[in-house]
Amino acid sequence: MKRLEYHRYGGPDVLALGDADTPTPGRGQVLVRVRAAAANAMDWKIRRGEMRTMTGRRFPRSVGHDFAGIIEQVGEGVTRLEVGDEVLGAARLRQAGAFAELVIADEQSVAHKPDAVSFAQAATLPVIGLTAYQAVTKAGRLQPGQDIFINGCLGGVGRVAVQVATGAGASVTGSCRSGSEADARQLGVDTVIAFDLDPVPPTGRFDVVFDTAGTLPFVTARRMLKPGGRIIDIVPSAAKFARSILPGPYTAFMGRPDSNDLQHVADAAGRGEITTRISRTVTLADAIPALIDLENAPTSSGGKLVIIID
Ligand SMILES: NC(=O)c1ccc[n+]([C@@H]2O[C@H](COP(=O)([O-])OP(=O)(O)OC[C@H]3O[C@@H](n4cnc5c(N)ncnc54)[C@H](OP(=O)(O)O)[C@@H]3O)[C@@H](O)[C@H]2O)c1
Repeated sequence: MKRLEYHRYGGPDVLALGDADTPTPGRGQVLVRVRAAAANAMDWKIRRGEMRTMTGRRFPRSVGHDFAGIIEQVGEGVTRLEVGDEVLGAARLRQAGAFAELVIADEQSVAHKPDAVSFAQAATLPVIGLTAYQAVTKAGRLQPGQDIFINGCLGGVGRVAVQVATGAGASVTGSCRSGSEADARQLGVDTVIAFDLDPVPPTGRFDVVFDTAGTLPFVTARRMLKPGGRIIDIVPSAAKFARSILPGPYTAFMGRPDSNDLQHVADAAGRGEITTRISRTVTLADAIPALIDLENAPTSSGGKLVIIID
């Protein structure tokens, strides 16, 4: 099968389109024929070696996590999925492999694709959808009538977070780059702050501060909270994880594989309650220059890059 791969950590020049043997699903895993895959910042953070404590040093490595496709084979012990099912999901952080004709995924990282959602749209959902949903509703425990601040409200995670929060009956304040305020309002953000013009948001106003950009200093985020409020940050570092262990309002959050949560996100997309924006679609053969463009883009708020695999 064709796949994107690399033989050492490094810049975009290490990426190549290669051939690999068809993988066999292990216990609890499925083999999926990929119809569409979507890029995330983690794809190049991993390729650069920035996450090597989690991703290890075995090469060649394959690329990409988010996919949508059709189940080709199921491993032992798989109960919820059958050959021929249309699904969306994410490959394991360590293995990756979605930018390929076939990918292996754990059953718990896969959900059924609603008919109303295209393969391309479905492929954009797993990483950003699951992270936004879990961060807002589980880590943030956002309740109807509460106030949330979403830093980076027009990014991949930010857009879904806005829709999850408004769907939960919360009032949303969000930050985006100046010039995009109308886009944010259209998405459902009640109060928009341009982070490049007015970087200090209001104090004492929020039950949840959700930092999707990882740029809010802790003291700033803490000043923004109401008493008892929570700060959720999804761009962790060693120092942030250390702070997260301490008692207090701060959590450095990582999305967790959970097929129920992913199905919830997929079904919400099927009902039109969660939409994502696709900025560009390319074939697997044209994916490398498109991934490089995305990695070098000065702003990412335009939408997701989707790789269509026929
Ligand atoms: N922990 C997890 O489980 C998890 C899961 C998914 C993603 N992530 C991480 O979360 C981050 C966001 O992911 P994403 O897919 O949403 O990325 P994204 O689409 O690139 O969105 C990031 C957003 O942050 C905005 N931004 C940039 N600088 C900012 C600032 N100073 N203040 C406020 N907003 C700012 C960007 O605006 P412009 O485009 O205008 O610059 C963009 O809208 C990435 O670092 C990703 O690796 C973590």
